Amino acid sequence: MELKEAIKKRESIRDYEDKPVPEEKLLRVLEAARLAPSGGNRQQWKFVVVREDKKRHELSQAAGQTFVGKAPVVIAAVSTMPENIMKCGIPGYAVDLAIAVDHMTLAAVDEGLGTCWIGAFSQEEARDILKIPESCRIVSLLTLGFPRQPGRPKVRKSIDEIVCYETFEQ
Ligand SMILES: Cc1cc2nc3c(=O)[nH]c(=O)nc-3n(C[C@H](O)[C@H](O)[C@H](O)COP(=O)(O)O)c2cc1C
Repeated sequence: MELKEAIKKRESIRDYEDKPVPEEKLLRVLEAARLAPSGGNRQQWKFVVVREDKKRHELSQAAGQTFVGKAPVVIAAVSTMPENIMKCGIPGYAVDLAIAVDHMTLAAVDEGLGTCWIGAFSQEEARDILKIPESCRIVSLLTLGFPRQPGRPKVRKSIDEIVCYETFEQ
């Protein structure tokens, strides 16, 4: 699939078919994260693949979002060095993990799979469920599975509203 097609097709999927994700598809999605860039190429991350029913259910409770437990796979994107602040004042770890997760969302489309970025969850509860050390931070939970009803139209601002040239304009 062409990149621009994958970008257009990617959407948040909150309803999944009740069927497992084949191992080779999962590995290709994870490979897209592995190849993502990171500050200084430090790759201070870990991707926890969750397939057990009980854990997915617990994660859905930590997120207060039932559909999370209905996705056959949830991937926790974890920074193993969440202290790093870039010279520009922005936390590097969140940027690194966001890029890796976005790579996975696009690779998933290429595999006929759907994803949804989950940012609304209890850090402490999810950490306990997955036995993640306190020195690490979960940047995102990503649900993954076969979408039941893909193809929602995208609601986005126009290019004119979000782009300006040379200097900032309101
Ligand atoms: C940082 C971030 C956090 C998000 N958190 C959640 C979430 O907790 N639950 C959810 O259902 N969707 C979540 N989303 C999905 C957004 O609602 C969705 O990307 C947005 O509405 C645009 O729709 P689309 O992804 O279908 O294009 C999140 C997306 C991002 C990028």
